[in-house]
Amino acid sequence: MDSTSRSLALLLLLFLLLVLGHDSSSTGPDSAAAADPQPQLQAQAPTPTPWPLQFHSILFMNFSGAISLIDLWYDWPKGRNFNIIQDQLGQLLYDLEWNNGTSFVYTLDDPRRCSVLDVGFGILRPNWLDGAEYLGQERVGGFLCNVWQKVDFIWYYEDVATKRPVHWIFYTGRSAHVMTFEVGATLEDEKWQGPVYCFQKDEDELRPENQTDLGEYSRRILTDKRSFRGLSGF
Ligand SMILES: *[C@@H]1O[C@H](CO)[C@@H](O)[C@H](O)[C@H]1NC(C)=O
Ligand SMILES: *[C@@H]1O[C@H](CO)[C@@H](O)[C@H](O)[C@H]1NC(C)=O
Ligand SMILES: *[C@@H]1O[C@H](CO)[C@@H](O)[C@H](O)[C@H]1NC(C)=O
Repeated sequence: MDSTSRSLALLLLLFLLLVLGHDSSSTGPDSAAAADPQPQLQAQAPTPTPWPLQFHSILFMNFSGAISLIDLWYDWPKGRNFNIIQDQLGQLLYDLEWNNGTSFVYTLDDPRRCSVLDVGFGILRPNWLDGAEYLGQERVGGFLCNVWQKVDFIWYYEDVATKRPVHWIFYTGRSAHVMTFEVGATLEDEKWQGPVYCFQKDEDELRPENQTDLGEYSRRILTDKRSFRGLSGF
């Protein structure tokens, strides 16, 4: 190596030191704090536990004082989700959702009715909470929970200790308290069969007096489902 190339090598080294020195000073604590107002909360933000592929849960629902119990059977591998809804002192209502976007909403006791709804999208994916914004911890019903919010649509509370869901609230005010959570529990296949009158379009069924009551349920359920669109369609 002659003196010219030694000088060139030295210059190059100096140049690199300057560039690197400049670089590290520009990513100091000040500029990081300016880019992220809550670096600590975000750095340590836990992520919601994905839903188990299959589970059974009993939910206590409250919508502005209207109380109901929901038997929820979530079955992702078979592409189906079942809400069996008992409104307080009301008729037991079955809401059977398929991943192809079809929902059957029906009663089994008299008066027997069925509405077949085209919801337009499938059931929630197990990872539907991905991308939710972490809001910190809060105590709900005696459980210390991590809390997330997703697209201003749902607030979701998960037990810090067991990672089980405890509570969620929809933007509409409809709230759920998780009473049981049986991971891996499944409902027998024959229970997922809608009754025959879901598949018959007889004249009785189309009479307005048969439609009214279930029509109201259907509208409510459809509204809830449609507002899930943003969460299931990713
Ligand atoms: C249901 O929610 C309302 C607020 O919307 C509340 O005042 C009421 O106490 C709740 N009822 C039960 C049984 O949790
Ligand atoms: C969706 O799947 C269910 C269950 O297999 C079926 O009864 C229903 O007809 C299907 N809907 C469409 C639009 O294919
Ligand atoms: C419709 O209503 C009529 C009387 O209002 C009743 O006899 C009939 O069973 C109902 N049909 C269905 C499918 O619920």
